[in-house]
Amino acid sequence: AGRAGIVVAIDGPSGSGKSSAARGVARRLELRYLDTGAMYRAITWWMIQVGVPVDDSDEVAARSSEPEIEVGIDPEHPTIAVDGVDVAGPIRSREVTNAVSAVAAVPAVRRRMVEIQRELIGSGGIVVEGRDIGTTVAPKAHVKVYLTAHEEERARRRAAEGLAGAKLELTLTQKEMALRDRKDSSRTTSPLNKAADAVVLDTTELNLQQVIDRICALAGEHAGAH
Ligand code: DC
Repeated sequence: AGRAGIVVAIDGPSGSGKSSAARGVARRLELRYLDTGAMYRAITWWMIQVGVPVDDSDEVAARSSEPEIEVGIDPEHPTIAVDGVDVAGPIRSREVTNAVSAVAAVPAVRRRMVEIQRELIGSGGIVVEGRDIGTTVAPKAHVKVYLTAHEEERARRRAAEGLAGAKLELTLTQKEMALRDRKDSSRTTSPLNKAADAVVLDTTELNLQQVIDRICALAGEHAGAH
């Protein structure tokens, strides 16, 4: 099939380098790019805005079809909007970050997000990143990568993204990140999980270019094999 219809699934915990890697691969291979985490963050942002208690799963489920989530899939300029409002900034806030696991655990929310994701994936030509892409959203993806990194390194990367790394913030980031990963891994509906046929890539000692190179090589092997 070559690269045109390829689906590259990239899963892993927070701070494993998924977003930068997925975006970099999409740019290099001229594929579209879908950040599914941004979608869960966007619906979480909306729940907080309208005053839905995020731990009330019944209420979250009842209202999950109300907001319109629009996600842009150009790797040069990914966008995310809720009911026409650009939320790219606010979805990265600490408040949303710490609330998103509860919202993402609600089956009605996941059903709706997965439906939008599958529609966007369509006939392929896309790199998709998240937690359940290789297992649930696109189980037939041609290339499946599971990114990992040691917890301390992941926290360091996350802290560097946000409030530049004072020691206390790093410790706090690591704590909050570990808690979120625990919730994302232990939920009942499609938890963070390595697909049986995913290639594990530990990025602790790799720089971004090296990670992109490895994934592109896997995509190249696939394209070459057809
Ligand atoms: O990748 P991220 O940190 O932006 O993702 C935010 C949250 O969304 C993450 O804590 C779990 C949830 N998520 C999910 O449940 N399934 C996905 N495919 C992607 C993200």
